[in-house]
Amino acid sequence: MKKLLLFLGFIAIVASGFSQDFYQVSTKSTKAKVPSTLWGLFFEDINRAADGGVYAEMVENRSFDFPKPLTAWSTWPSPQLRDGIFMVVNQIATNAANPKYMQVDLRARDTVGLINTGFDEGMSFKKGLPYNLTLRYRQQTPGIHVRIFLFSGNNKILARTEMTPDNDAKDWHSQEVSITPIDTATRGKLLVIFEGSGKLDVDRISLFPSDTWKNRKGGLRADLVQKLADLKPGFLRFPGGCIVEGNQLVHRYQWKHTIGPLENREMVQSIWADDVPDRQTPDYMESFGLGFYEYFQLAEDIGAAPLPIINVGMSCQFDAAEVVPINELEPFITDALDLIEFANGSTSTYWGKKRAELGHPAPFNLKLLGIGNENWGPQYAERLKLFTDRIKAKYPEIRLINATGYSRNIPVFTYMDSVLRARKADIIDEHFYDTPKWFMDNANRYDSYDRKGPKIFVGEYAAQSDRIGSMKNVNNLLTALSEACFMTGIERNADVVDMASYAPLFAHVTGWQWTPNLIWFDNSTSYNTPNYYVQQLFSLNRGTDVVPLTKDGKAICGQDSCWASAVVDKNTRELVIKMVNMSSKPKARQIRLTNTTAAGEASWISLANGSTGIMNSITNPDNIKPDTKTITANGKEVSFTAAPFSFNVIKVKLK
Ligand code: AHR
Repeated sequence: MKKLLLFLGFIAIVASGFSQDFYQVSTKSTKAKVPSTLWGLFFEDINRAADGGVYAEMVENRSFDFPKPLTAWSTWPSPQLRDGIFMVVNQIATNAANPKYMQVDLRARDTVGLINTGFDEGMSFKKGLPYNLTLRYRQQTPGIHVRIFLFSGNNKILARTEMTPDNDAKDWHSQEVSITPIDTATRGKLLVIFEGSGKLDVDRISLFPSDTWKNRKGGLRADLVQKLADLKPGFLRFPGGCIVEGNQLVHRYQWKHTIGPLENREMVQSIWADDVPDRQTPDYMESFGLGFYEYFQLAEDIGAAPLPIINVGMSCQFDAAEVVPINELEPFITDALDLIEFANGSTSTYWGKKRAELGHPAPFNLKLLGIGNENWGPQYAERLKLFTDRIKAKYPEIRLINATGYSRNIPVFTYMDSVLRARKADIIDEHFYDTPKWFMDNANRYDSYDRKGPKIFVGEYAAQSDRIGSMKNVNNLLTALSEACFMTGIERNADVVDMASYAPLFAHVTGWQWTPNLIWFDNSTSYNTPNYYVQQLFSLNRGTDVVPLTKDGKAICGQDSCWASAVVDKNTRELVIKMVNMSSKPKARQIRLTNTTAAGEASWISLANGSTGIMNSITNPDNIKPDTKTITANGKEVSFTAAPFSFNVIKVKLK
């Protein structure tokens, strides 16, 4: 009778299209400790991630220092008014970092103005929220009064206020005024009116919302930082990406130019201004308002280990491919050593003191440092060795991250990989932008890696829905699930892979140069992609110990279109199973526990949809998001049926 029932059950399962399977999990056999850094973030100012994005400044070209100083500005009431009234002055001899300013010269009780249209599709204002307008100016001839207006996209006045510049401000001086719109608006603009008779030098006009992250003046967009905090990242890699290298060395990222007073932060043109032929963004400048101090602070705020990447004396090898001669490399190495002192040095050191002066006497606890972004070849190997020897001699405790170029298993990669393994490098950075199929097929990539060799940082990866580098790539469920397959392989190999981060992180919906990206935003709102939810589900359920989850003694890595891994969280006494079903059929699974017993209840989080093309958007931000329910899990077995095209996280309380 029992056999007959089992047979009928089997027929019913086959008839319904279900496939039922048993997985074995041994919760007491730790395969690897989960590194606290396993799931982290890659932050680069690409796609307007910083300027025009998370850095909450609303005025584009606030200091008139863009190559075209009137970029994003126009004069009011007439464009002709510029001559003789507005003049851009260049003071490069006195301040090379911030050379240009606008001189306003009013002789006959004139009334003129400057309009700024903000980044991309214009300024967004929230009804009732105070905004801080700051004017940095100096008096040449006192007598000019300032009025400030905020406009909606259809030219409705939303707010007005006034400012009387200090007559005694003969040197550069900043003055702030608060202004509050009476309505919410998008595509808005700022008008600053100058009236009276006199001459005023205006170096910066800045506008920030008051509701920044942690209410810091001149800070970051709280909604976007919150999305990062919600990922509970193990590390924050910054500032990139290609911007570390620059298309030419002159445009490389120089951290010392990004700290301290804004007027000392020398702006450079972003490599992303013109690097992507189909998405030219000629007005993409890096203001460094979000500079290295703020990056360290951000990492600390969101509980992530800071991971700066520094230039190795080479510009982007896809662009100018400049290299610094070996005998001129010293300042670059010094920058690396000084950065460690800036982050960790006591306040009696030169750079530790600087950090304290900026507001953070306690060290930032830097433990990781990347030397070079996507560099490769003998010239990189040669320079890297010089950096490594010097850094290790002074700071042996800092773990160094070394690059292997831009892709996997090509000569560029294999050359660097063998050099770095021979050198016993600390951590090797690998990058993967590939098809969803590649991510599924390569979930076993790290199974065969040398367990005693360098650790791996999967520093950039993202599945490409169209093709690699295509402007048609989208963040849909298929790409997210394929990344989840790959991530089960990372988790299973957490004894080798120390860190992993999706890339890029942010993109403005109109200002982007690269796709896909983890989080998309416009000037007022943002949305999570399915890929974000996959990252979040891994990160929030990272556990403490990787344990074996097998089918017939083998890891679950594509059999029956499923990928799975398991961790135990010794703090919460939970077993966490992660399973991807990449097929259009439901998959019934029974997890059999050895050495332990389920305590009665489990939560089951699932990201699923019958259509793998489903996406979120600004107007439909919740088209697809995870769903949580509670299931019963008693004794030695936990059963569930994974929906077609789903990523499932099952959290089982253990006795
Ligand atoms: O993530 C976008 C770019 O891809 C990064 O800047 C670079 O490192 C990689 O080529």
